[in-house]
Amino acid sequence: FTVDWDAGHYDNGGYEHYLLKEISEQPDTVARTLRGRIDDRFHIAHLGGLNMDARETRSFRRVKIIGCGSAYYSGQMGAQLIEELARIPADAEPASEFRYRSPVVEPDTLYVAISQSGETYDTLAAVQELKRKGGRVLGIVNTVGSAIARETDGGIYLHAGPEVSVASTKAFTSTAVAFALLALHLGRVRDLSPADGRRICEGLRRLPEQIKEILTLEDRIKELAKKYADSPGMMFVGRVRGYPVAREGAQKLKEISYVHAEAYPASELKHGPLALISPELPTVAIVPDDELLDKNLTTLGEIRARHGRILMVGHRTSEAADDCIVVPKNEVELDPILLTIPLQLFAYHAAVALERDVDRPRNLAKSVTVE
Ligand code: G6P
Repeated sequence: FTVDWDAGHYDNGGYEHYLLKEISEQPDTVARTLRGRIDDRFHIAHLGGLNMDARETRSFRRVKIIGCGSAYYSGQMGAQLIEELARIPADAEPASEFRYRSPVVEPDTLYVAISQSGETYDTLAAVQELKRKGGRVLGIVNTVGSAIARETDGGIYLHAGPEVSVASTKAFTSTAVAFALLALHLGRVRDLSPADGRRICEGLRRLPEQIKEILTLEDRIKELAKKYADSPGMMFVGRVRGYPVAREGAQKLKEISYVHAEAYPASELKHGPLALISPELPTVAIVPDDELLDKNLTTLGEIRARHGRILMVGHRTSEAADDCIVVPKNEVELDPILLTIPLQLFAYHAAVALERDVDRPRNLAKSVTVE
């Protein structure tokens, strides 16, 4: 079942595709998600829509995040941000799975439902199940007044504007930014120091300019997309913070270019998928400059030794890779948000090179509103 695709009344801004328009808007959409929400005096986030006082905010011992598709991958990024900044155990699960397994709903767990449209049936049904069992549910939603926004106890609106192209880009990025704000908020009522709070606030403020810088790499990314687009498949790997980036990168590529793409934790390669590595299956490796850099470079060596071609996305070039995309560095916790942007451009240009219907990929709908 699909919701009718009606882009007619949205301006494409002179771009050839809505997808490119939405990727290019991200300096502004991220600024909108942040606007009015960073407090430079106490280095905290203002999130009035959560409808929770400090005592309640401190009472949660776990965070469970649910969403479908790209929303789920942004939730995985969000879970890592919450664990790192607030030190609360957090994990993400597809809402579609969650609702079918009769989930155990705990009073000291904060549930967060993510949805660009606010209408995805599986996510809505999961929210309703949670509410029925007395769970506290927040929504991270783009569409104001949508079903999920109405059914949750409070939440964070993305303010990213309408997303028309089926594949999510700006909503994904804004959701990750909203999670950084939520993690800062949960952290600062617990043990995140004012100094670390300040570091994150300053990092968040740098994001729009840094996204602009990444967008200037488009010509180079287009060349690389053409070079790799005729591969029968691609592997995307990342460790810890890089893993949700790899998953979203693979998702974008398969959705709009129909190139088979598989995402794996870099650490798991040797437990199976290394058998697939050959010159015909290039790897996109997410390699941030963090404490896992050396481990990641060792993994690149292992892929190289099996004659795998490597496109590295990170903060430096490396001779271990055939090609590198270097993005600006932010705080380690926020780097995944930036590392995802070149992968959106990569998928877009791969899809264009393969002459796909970029904004309306086959078999997919923007919003899946029935079971
Ligand atoms: C559909 C779309 C995906 C999207 C998912 C969740 O499957 O094709 O691109 O990520 O729904 O949508 P939502 O509106 O809930 O974020």
